[in-house]
Amino acid sequence: MRVITTIAAMHRQALRWRREGVRIGFVPTMGYLHEGHISLVRRARQLVGRGGRVVASIYVNPKQFAPTEDLAKYPRDLERDKACCAAAGVDAIFFPDDKQMYPSRAEGAYSSYVIEERLSQGMEGASRPTHFRGVATVVAKLFNIIQPDVAVFGAKDWQQAAVIRRMARDLNFPLRVVVAATLRERDGLAMSSRNAYLSSEERRQATVLWRAIELTRAAVRENGTATLRLKAQIERLIYREPAARLDYVEFFNPETLQAVAPQRGAQMALAVFIGKIRLIDNGRL
Ligand code: PAF
Repeated sequence: MRVITTIAAMHRQALRWRREGVRIGFVPTMGYLHEGHISLVRRARQLVGRGGRVVASIYVNPKQFAPTEDLAKYPRDLERDKACCAAAGVDAIFFPDDKQMYPSRAEGAYSSYVIEERLSQGMEGASRPTHFRGVATVVAKLFNIIQPDVAVFGAKDWQQAAVIRRMARDLNFPLRVVVAATLRERDGLAMSSRNAYLSSEERRQATVLWRAIELTRAAVRENGTATLRLKAQIERLIYREPAARLDYVEFFNPETLQAVAPQRGAQMALAVFIGKIRLIDNGRL
């Protein structure tokens, strides 16, 4: 497994593979890998086959963090990530630094961005107004650098996956965007690098996101319920946990992300602060 740190070297490697007719599968990450990421790598491997190559990028993208967010504290452990990637069968890690990705040259600072204007508006986009601009920009750059045939994203970031799929379609990236199922701990908590920040008491309370999804599924199965009543029920469940604070909960069409009533086939997403840690999750009703 190679660890590639410059754009030029990654580009050369990708072009070499493409000339040889080798398919490239790509898993973008911000590192601090867990089983959820490994499942994305396995999916990428399935999609490109044994003759293909799987690239994982590890880059904590500053452009998707607001100044008030946890960029500096975002967990990092390259040695552990390398071991995870090697064990999962990654062929190359792309590990650039900020100077590679956003050079500020004498002739002017970095100034080009990709903005998806529709699917990025609500939910995460409303709570974190510059987030998807940063995500779409870095993913577009990574697509150009790594030239994948297929890129695998996790369903835990449902809105992110929808924004990326739309961006790839609108900007004619010649690749397939695949969304792989969320991996959960035994008690339902969705796997996330941010779980590492939780104290053991917060970790216990964090299962409330999954419990909110289960509560909603049960309410919808048992004859449906009005949006406002259900949101109030979810809020009550969440505020029973002393460290929890609801940021948003929404019900929407899984493809268009348009708001719908909580009903079978709708997607539900929520964001909850557990202490200072903001967690997100979603599920199909
Ligand atoms: O989901 C993430 O980890 C990030 O948003 C991504 C896609 C790697 C872009 O920085």
